Amino acid sequence: MIKRFIGLMLLALTVVCGGCGKDSGAPKLVMATNAAFPPYEYKEHGRIDGIDPAIVGLIAQRLGYELEIRDMEFGAVITAVQTGKADIAASGITITEERKKQVLFTNSYVSAAQMILVRKDSGITGEADFPGKSIGVQEGTTGDTYVNKHFKDKVRINRYKDPSSAVQALITNKIDLVVIDAEPAQVFVSKNPEIRQLPKPLTHEEYAFAINKNNPELLGKFNAELMKMKTSGELDDIIEHYRKINDERAGEPDFARGFWTRLEDSLYVNFVKDGRYKYLLNGFIVTLEITVLAVLMGIVIGLAVAVVRCTADQTGHLKWLDWLCRVYLTVIRGTPVVVQLLIIYFVIFSSINISQVLVAVIAFGINSGAYVAEIIRGGIMSVDRGQMEAGQSLGLTYTQTMRFVVLPQAFKNVLPALGNEFIVLLKETSVAGYIALQDLTKAGDIIRSQTYDAFLPLIAVALIYLTVVMCLSWLLGRLEKRLKKNE
Ligand code: ARG
Repeated sequence: MIKRFIGLMLLALTVVCGGCGKDSGAPKLVMATNAAFPPYEYKEHGRIDGIDPAIVGLIAQRLGYELEIRDMEFGAVITAVQTGKADIAASGITITEERKKQVLFTNSYVSAAQMILVRKDSGITGEADFPGKSIGVQEGTTGDTYVNKHFKDKVRINRYKDPSSAVQALITNKIDLVVIDAEPAQVFVSKNPEIRQLPKPLTHEEYAFAINKNNPELLGKFNAELMKMKTSGELDDIIEHYRKINDERAGEPDFARGFWTRLEDSLYVNFVKDGRYKYLLNGFIVTLEITVLAVLMGIVIGLAVAVVRCTADQTGHLKWLDWLCRVYLTVIRGTPVVVQLLIIYFVIFSSINISQVLVAVIAFGINSGAYVAEIIRGGIMSVDRGQMEAGQSLGLTYTQTMRFVVLPQAFKNVLPALGNEFIVLLKETSVAGYIALQDLTKAGDIIRSQTYDAFLPLIAVALIYLTVVMCLSWLLGRLEKRLKKNE
C-alpha cells in the first residue's frame, strides 16, 4: 500500500516537472509583471499585452532571448527580481530610492504621476480634503507609500491587490477616493462614467525596468537597446500605439438598460467575450491538479508521521524522530497555509527556477500531511491494542503487524475523515494566486479585473467550488455507507 502510494507520488511529480521544462533553443528571459495596469500591462485574449511587454519583448528578441512573462501581485514583482525568480521586472515601476537599494533600474522610459480619482458627485477637490477619508490604493505602489507617508494617522488606507478592485470599491461607495498612476486612472475613467480624475497630480515620477543587482551586464545591454529605441522614435510609437488602443475602447460597458438585457450583457462580457470562460476552465484544471497531487503527498507524509508517533508511543523507540514529527506538526498547524506557501516559494526555493505548480503541491502537501498525520494516528489508536498483541503472539514482528493488521483497519476507520481533508484542501488551494498561479479563484479575479464586474465572476467561481465539494461529499457519503455495510 505504502509503496504504491510513493510510486504514484513520484509518477505524479515527474509529470508536473516534465510539464515545466518545455525549452526551445534560445535562453529564457523571465519578466515579472502585474497585468492589471492598462495601458502598461493587461490581459487580453488570454495573453498579456501592453506597453511594457511590447518594449521588453522587442529588446529581448534583439538580445536573442525568448521572453517568458510571469503575472503576479505588484508587491511581488520587485521581490521576484531580487530573489532571482525573474530576470527583469516591467510593471509601470516608478524609480524610488527605497527600491534602488534592492534592484538596479534601467534608464527611465516614460514620465508618470500619482493622481486622485473620485466619484462624479464628490466634493473632494484635492489633498487638503484627505483627512478623515477612506482612500484606496494598490498595495505596494508609490500611491500606497505616498498616502502612508503624508496621511498615515489621518485617513483610512484600503490596500487592494489590483487597481481595478480599488476603482470598483470607489464606484460602489465603499471608499471616498483612489490614489493611482495617471495613465491607468485615465483608462478607468474612460470606462466608468461614474468617476472622474482631479487635475492636480500628487507626485512626478519616472518609470523604469528593474534588474537583479548581480546582473549589471543585462542592465548595460538593456540600456543600450532602450537608448536606440528612444533615438529612433520606436519607443514613443509603441507607447502611443497602446495609449490609442485603450482610448478607443472608452465607454465599452453600458449598463443603463433593463435587468434581463443587462444580465445577458454581463454574462456575455464576463464569460463569452474574448473566450473568458477559458480562464475558469484552465483555473479549474490547475486547482484540481494541485489538490489531487497535494492530497497524495499529504497521505504519504501523514502516514509516515503517524506511524512514527504511534510506534514511539507504544514501544518507546524512535524518540528522536518522534520529536521531529512533533515539531513539524506544531509548526505546520500553528501557521497559516498562505504564509507557508509564500515562505516555500520566496525563501526556500528563492534562487531555484521551479514550476509554481510544483511549489504549490509541495506547500499544500506538507500542510495537509500534518492534518492527515493526526487523522491516521487517531485511526491507529482506535484499533484495539489486542490486535497488536495477537499479531505478535502469532509470530509477526512489530512492523509486520503494523503493516498487515493494524494499518488496514485504521485506514478503513479514517477514510471519511481523509475524504473531508480532501475537501478542505480543495478550498484552501484558493490562495495559490499568491504565488502567481492561475487557479480557479485567480481566474475569477482576472475576469473581474478585465470586466470591472465583481458579481458574476465571483459567483461563478463560488458555484464551481460548491459543485465539486457537493459531488465529493456525495461520494464520501456512499463510501461511508459501503464501509458500514461491510463491518
Ligand atoms: N508606478 C507605481 C509604482 O511603481 C504603480 C505601479 C503599478 N503597476 C502595476 N502593474 N500594477 O509603485
